[in-house]
Amino acid sequence: MSNLNSINKNIELEKKSVKDSETLEKMRLKFLGKKGEITLLMKDLGKMDPEERKAKAEELNKIKDSVNNFINSKSDEFEDELMSNQLASEKQDLTLDSKISDGRIHPITQVIDEVIAIFTDLDFCVAEGPEVETDYNNFTALNTSENHPARQMHDTFYVNSETDGMLNVLRTHTSPVQIRSMLEGKPPFRLIAPGKTYRCDNDQTHTPMFHQVEGLVIDKTSNMGHLKGCLETFLKEFFETDTPKMRFRPSHFPFTEPSAEVDIGYRKDGNQIIIGEGDSWLEILGCGMVHPNVLKNVNIDPDEYQGYAFGVGIERLAMLKYGISDLRTFYDNDLRWLKHFGFIPLDIPSISGGLSR
Ligand code: DAH
Repeated sequence: MSNLNSINKNIELEKKSVKDSETLEKMRLKFLGKKGEITLLMKDLGKMDPEERKAKAEELNKIKDSVNNFINSKSDEFEDELMSNQLASEKQDLTLDSKISDGRIHPITQVIDEVIAIFTDLDFCVAEGPEVETDYNNFTALNTSENHPARQMHDTFYVNSETDGMLNVLRTHTSPVQIRSMLEGKPPFRLIAPGKTYRCDNDQTHTPMFHQVEGLVIDKTSNMGHLKGCLETFLKEFFETDTPKMRFRPSHFPFTEPSAEVDIGYRKDGNQIIIGEGDSWLEILGCGMVHPNVLKNVNIDPDEYQGYAFGVGIERLAMLKYGISDLRTFYDNDLRWLKHFGFIPLDIPSISGGLSR
């Protein structure tokens, strides 16, 4: 028992020397560390006969508990002290200018929201697909031949990874979402798929990343006339005009037959672009009737089902609608530009009931 008496004395002495968390840790090591006094005595218990062990173990555990309690309560005390010292020294300076500039919605985000709003009103749903896409979904399933120019290394970002043994690419258009959606569901389909797309291109009128909205309608009766009507409605709504000037030019896409490109007519008045007037044309989308081979690739019988598809460039739409003349400015991250062309996040209804901007 003399060991225990002396350890109790040591503990009392040591308690007096504890002034901060460092000295507290020293005390913990002295008694409870791997070679601490209590730890060593605990180890000795094994050598004792059962009677003695029982008595000493009880006593030792009490001592150990009391040391632990002391350490815990001191440790809380020191932490509280630290916190109040910190709070006292880190006072907030309320004299600083509190004006925080409010954020803006980027025109690309705004246009995507507008496009979604228009098409969901026309009963389309919104589909999504990944930006890293398989070469198969991006090209092959869309009836794009092995030697199509779009597949060349200098046109497409090939990704150094594979999915299910298939080469991956950064999707060059939103059209692969057609494939994914048709594989996942059953016709009829009526969907749009907005998102980012990538091509190895960088000059005044091209950026390596840009945005598109894909559209797909598959059922038993939809035809080119429906496609035209659908796009006309969209353009009317989007450009807020009753008389959008549009023209269909015959074109070629591997995944549609027949294919067309749609131009929108406009005129410039100084820096302003007037849609629906004048005789300047700007291509804004590609479209056509879905090629039977595409339907076969997603296990849909082209003798039973048919439909149309289209792909719209979001940047183009934004430039035309909001008078943005330089494509690259979208991605310069210039706050002054964003303040000018961006949108206030919460459109608050004005007194007249409309939306203020
Ligand atoms: N994927 C085409 C492109 O990026 C655009 C396009 C054309 C999409 C015709 C379509 C379509 O769905 O039918 O140039």
